[in-house]
Amino acid sequence: MKTITVLSRKGGAGKTTLAVNLALTAFLQGRKVVLADIDPQRSASDALRARREPGPILAEVTAGKLFMTKSNAMRDGVDYLFIDTPAMPEADVAQAVNIADLCLVAGRPSFLDLAPIVRSAEAVRRLGKDGMVVLNQAHTSRSDVAPTAFPEILEALRFCGLPLAPHGLRAREAFQTAMAHGLCVAELEPGGPAARDLHRLWTHVEGGLGALGGETPMRTALTA
Ligand SMILES: Nc1ncnc2c1ncn2[C@@H]1O[C@H](COP(=O)(O)OP(=O)(O)O)[C@@H](O)[C@H]1O
Ligand SMILES: [Mg+2]
Repeated sequence: MKTITVLSRKGGAGKTTLAVNLALTAFLQGRKVVLADIDPQRSASDALRARREPGPILAEVTAGKLFMTKSNAMRDGVDYLFIDTPAMPEADVAQAVNIADLCLVAGRPSFLDLAPIVRSAEAVRRLGKDGMVVLNQAHTSRSDVAPTAFPEILEALRFCGLPLAPHGLRAREAFQTAMAHGLCVAELEPGGPAARDLHRLWTHVEGGLGALGGETPMRTALTA
């Protein structure tokens, strides 16, 4: 089992959108998936509850229960545990980072999002975790969010210590419409541009998880 934590110190960065859509993508590919929602706002839970079709198993928990959630998921033969986090408090997010195999730092490619991205990336590195920055809500016609569109932002991100995912998500209405029905954008608009972005991102993330190798032993002493 692999655990993927989505984080950002900024609200509205796209954590929930990423966590829900990636969890659904893995589920639709036949994986057994748990989505743990530790954000008291419960946005990811609201989205999955709006879903009529079968979907990922939802775990509405506090950060303190994550360790147990992960143990249970491993026992139950789950393939992927996704964790959607709040922007704060830092200690809760740290617990979610601590039990992750891979952390996705979500952020918009805008000047005001830069500092939160860098600080979230620092938190991941401080805890010795693997991660990548995923740009979300990019306003660009390019399918790869990385090149040339935002040179000064990309330049700054080069120094945040985490690699930039070569595929991000562009701003698409489909992400908002799909979320309201608990759907993956690929179910709402199969083959559409949002679905393509998401598929490319998931292929990259899953490839990165495969490269991490076998099961990561859980740390027994989690700091609060
Ligand atoms: N790629 C996207 N395209 C269009 N709207 C988006 C996209 N990503 C997020 N949103 C919208 O932006 C808002 C904030 O996203 P959300 O995932 O809730 O962020 P967070 O969980 O980080 O607070 C939501 O209304 C969501 O529907
Ligand atoms: Mg959220």
